[in-house]
Amino acid sequence: MTGQAPLSYRFGEYTSKVAFFPSIDTKRLSGDSGTLLVFDKNTAGIPDSSQPALKVVLPPGERSKSWVGTQRILREALSAGLGRDGLIVGIGGGMICDLAAFSASLFMRGCRLFLVPTSLLAMVDAAVGGKTAINFRGYKNMVGTFYPAEQIWIAVSALRYLPEREFRSGLGEVIKTALLGDPVLFEILLNRRELVLARDSAIMEELVRRCVEVKARIVEEDLRESGERAFLNLGHTFAHALEMETKYRLWSHGQAVAWGLVQAAMLSETLGLADPSYTAAVQSLIRSYGFDLQPGRKPESVVAAMQVDKKKRRGKLRLVLQRGIGDTVVREVDPLLIVEMLSRSARIFP
Ligand SMILES: NC(=O)c1ccc[n+]([C@@H]2O[C@H](COP(=O)([O-])OP(=O)(O)OC[C@H]3O[C@@H](n4cnc5c(N)ncnc54)[C@H](O)[C@@H]3O)[C@@H](O)[C@H]2O)c1
Repeated sequence: MTGQAPLSYRFGEYTSKVAFFPSIDTKRLSGDSGTLLVFDKNTAGIPDSSQPALKVVLPPGERSKSWVGTQRILREALSAGLGRDGLIVGIGGGMICDLAAFSASLFMRGCRLFLVPTSLLAMVDAAVGGKTAINFRGYKNMVGTFYPAEQIWIAVSALRYLPEREFRSGLGEVIKTALLGDPVLFEILLNRRELVLARDSAIMEELVRRCVEVKARIVEEDLRESGERAFLNLGHTFAHALEMETKYRLWSHGQAVAWGLVQAAMLSETLGLADPSYTAAVQSLIRSYGFDLQPGRKPESVVAAMQVDKKKRRGKLRLVLQRGIGDTVVREVDPLLIVEMLSRSARIFP
């Protein structure tokens, strides 16, 4: 499929093109008044051709997604003489994509932006859809803009260097995307598990392409999250609570999402929205990928953490749930019902 015409999406007044390549070749990148490549230390070695181009290499990890990281990029862009038609290219995981995009949205009130996602999570989620962010005063993604990349270049070959934990984290989001809107993707995940886990290039490209399509179609309808974009949070209110409860150390984001998807399915069934066969299918797929379904935290503390989340209204929690694959709804739910459901879930998955 590599070499096919780029996919093209309209996000508000922006157009984003998504193209697949066999490898990352930075020689192909150029901006009219200069190009600045932004990496973290782990992704700086991935491109096949190391361009003498200007580059910023930041320490890996969320701490770089900050004003300090932003200033480094803006300073380099300025001293390199980039103009408004200059190009900033983020080459890395979701951290670099969010940070490079945030910086590009500010430089000269918005310069050109390409993203080259290198983690699975960034390919299927962070690079697509125009949300940019930095962390601020201990809050994740507290400051940001909407600034879709002009082009997103994907080379699934980069995934061979990705650590297993990060790969699995991306898989959590792939499963979420399948549930949101692609039953064929769900079948592929179910029937081609060995190839997926081996990161077979053809399968990975197909998975990523399908995920991009589902996410981009949702964002095309709702760039600024006034409606359907919220569906992308399926499983995430549970996941964020678990991550918060475990101080972001024990659970990677995607692994927490996988657990959260099972809880969302069980809650959907408890509320009479979904029938048991849907919950069984979600559980069985997620278990088959070896995700941990035992949070190791008391249901009461997970729900307390959920209540700190911004999706709370009038004491109830607003959650994204499903009637089935591709049939997503938002419902307000009584926290006590969630405590009861989580207790049941913990007994099912000892
Ligand atoms: N903007 C959005 O819509 C959106 C959506 C989801 C997540 N995000 C953001 O994405 C970030 C998480 O993304 P992530 O999981 O990619 O984290 P990350 O960017 O921190 O990458 C995880 C680790 O993998 C390394 N890495 C990345 N690609 C590699 C490769 N090919 N080979 C070897 N190492 C590689 C990185 O250096 C890092 O150490 C968070 O900051 C989150 O807020 C944004």
